[in-house]
Amino acid sequence: MTLYPKLILDALQHVRYPGTGEDIVTTGMVADNIRIEGNSVWFSLMIKPNDPLQKSLVKASEQAIITYIGDFVDIKGHVSVMQVEKEIKTAEVPLSGVKCKIAVSSGKGGVGKSTVSANLAIALQKQGYKVGLLDADIYGPSIPKMFGIENERPVANESGMIVPIEKYGIKILSIGFFVNKESAVVWRGAMASNAIKQLLTEATWGDLDFFIIDLPPGTSDIHLTIVQTIKLDGAIVVSTPQEVALADAIKGIDMFQNDKVAVPILGLIENMAWFTPAELPENEYYIFGKDGVKKLAEERGIELLGQIPIVQSICESGDSGKPICLNNDGIVSSAFDNVAKNSIFAQILQK
Ligand SMILES: Nc1ncnc2c1ncn2[C@@H]1O[C@H](COP(=O)(O)OP(=O)(O)OP(=O)(O)O)[C@@H](O)[C@H]1O
Ligand SMILES: [Mg+2]
Repeated sequence: MTLYPKLILDALQHVRYPGTGEDIVTTGMVADNIRIEGNSVWFSLMIKPNDPLQKSLVKASEQAIITYIGDFVDIKGHVSVMQVEKEIKTAEVPLSGVKCKIAVSSGKGGVGKSTVSANLAIALQKQGYKVGLLDADIYGPSIPKMFGIENERPVANESGMIVPIEKYGIKILSIGFFVNKESAVVWRGAMASNAIKQLLTEATWGDLDFFIIDLPPGTSDIHLTIVQTIKLDGAIVVSTPQEVALADAIKGIDMFQNDKVAVPILGLIENMAWFTPAELPENEYYIFGKDGVKKLAEERGIELLGQIPIVQSICESGDSGKPICLNNDGIVSSAFDNVAKNSIFAQILQK
């Protein structure tokens, strides 16, 4: 039997892409590079990066060739994956009205991810952007407290979609809204992943310029769930200048930059860069070391988006439900305003 491309395509029409229910040939996933030599066949599947179905589609394609043409075809290990940026249309694209989705991450806990997420959301909103904020920290959701909305409970609309709470002009959802503070639920693996998926895909986020996700510390399943559910446009990594925090920040950077995840790092933020007492605003004490994150950014060729000092009022405003960036005076709010004015944010919207 002589093999020819049409025969291969006919066999591949039996493979369906689960996202759309359509076959991979009709969906345009089979690249135009079918090579046949005797009984050996090679070709590529065009699959978007992060697609969790990559492996199974390759397997299914090999199997379809053997089933519908014959087991004499030498195909095992010959199907390669060509990564494409193009979105494969799925029934419903989550967050389709959102222009830019940014994850705020850190390797280490307690370095100020939530503080940065909350204040960056406010600073971007002050620049005139429409902003949404998702608190995906299953271990310690803190956004509701920082926005003074701990006692609110989002409701669903007639279509069963969750309606985010709006505060200071920002649409907010938190995993914290769905646990009872008293009976602290421990979110485990699949349960947490499903809850986060639901907050991403079954909520009325609407049209937004920026969607900011406050991630849990480290590199957990939740990170993977988010990357597999939506296409992140970028990540911001927060760290203090302290050695131990930097080591973890590097792990965080590597997690986003590895081939499988491939999320661009928009920049680093150095939090707790120095201590400035309220009564001595000119003084700077480098409690956790000087410029650790700045140096890391230089080494890695990543932008340093800002250095935020330690000031008592950050902590107080976090606890009082009014993020510090709402005040228009003071070194911290101007530090966050400067982050939001960084051209990277305007650029990314243009893409
Ligand atoms: N620059 C700062 N100056 C003073 N206090 C700060 C600063 N940044 C953060 N904090 C305080 O440090 C604590 C931890 O900050 P935050 O909750 O933002 O960290 P996190 O990385 O989100 O922590 P977690 O890993 O627990 O989610 C909070 O009480 C916060 O108010
Ligand atoms: Mg936090």
